[in-house]
Amino acid sequence: MILSDYLNNALKEKWALPHFNISDAVTLAGICEAAKELKSPLMIGTSEGERKFIGLRRAVAMINVYREEYKLPIFLNADHHRSVSAAEEAVNAGYDSVHIDLSAAKLEENIKSTKEVVEYARSKFPISNFQFPISVEGEVGYLVTESSKIYKETIQIPPESLTKPEEAARFVQETGVDRFAPAVGNLHGISANVKQLDFERIKAIRKAIGGEVALVLHGGSAIPDDQIKEAIKCGINNIHINTELRVAYTEALRKFLAEHPDETTPYKFFAPVIEAVKQKAAEKITLFGSKSKI
Ligand code: G3H
Ligand code: ZN
Repeated sequence: MILSDYLNNALKEKWALPHFNISDAVTLAGICEAAKELKSPLMIGTSEGERKFIGLRRAVAMINVYREEYKLPIFLNADHHRSVSAAEEAVNAGYDSVHIDLSAAKLEENIKSTKEVVEYARSKFPISNFQFPISVEGEVGYLVTESSKIYKETIQIPPESLTKPEEAARFVQETGVDRFAPAVGNLHGISANVKQLDFERIKAIRKAIGGEVALVLHGGSAIPDDQIKEAIKCGINNIHINTELRVAYTEALRKFLAEHPDETTPYKFFAPVIEAVKQKAAEKITLFGSKSKI
């Protein structure tokens, strides 16, 4: 099955395909262990910063190895790429998917450039075991925080940043994207206040874009479980998680090094890190309902 098959199944069967961001091979190891154990399909994402750290072709190579060794459907996404050229570089490097995020631009400009990426992606195939056209995600409405980190302050979401269903419909129709990312009360990272999703807006956007396009929830960290379940019922079928994995990673690393200050062997101090990431990814896979969906 190809990426769109998993997303279509998710929508029909009311579950969400997990999208986990990685910065390194350690995080990837933990996520893939969880997916293998729970038999979950996966999207792995690298933002422009994450991809710069790992290396574009190295990210592609790592995913290919896990696909073969673990026999898992894993799809690599160039997450939040903010220019046409950066998105095209990822396509050329062999990514399965790109998220062209021009949500900060005017709608006209966003549509024009997203369409350019869709046309470029349609002319290429990823260098993977799964031969299918590259999937493209676009975004309208903006998320007030850019980074996947902990914010000590309360973060308010201005109403004008939220996605308007009619703009979502126009964007999807004119660009031909496969996946659509809205702003519906979500934000990147973990803020002092609890996130509150706008379910009526999610339902209206799902209705406006129809049943062929995936509806992606960014900023999935620290959204309470009951809200995640409700969002899936309202038509979300793809959820991004980054900060909670980063927190699990760094907490495990800090704890281990505090308890073993003389340890210098990476495979020893990274073992509990991989385990912590695995637990967190498993928790999200179970919550999203993607268990046993490969
Ligand atoms: O694209 C990445 C995500 O939207 C991550 O959001 O850091 O809140 O989990 P998060
Ligand atoms: Zn995001």
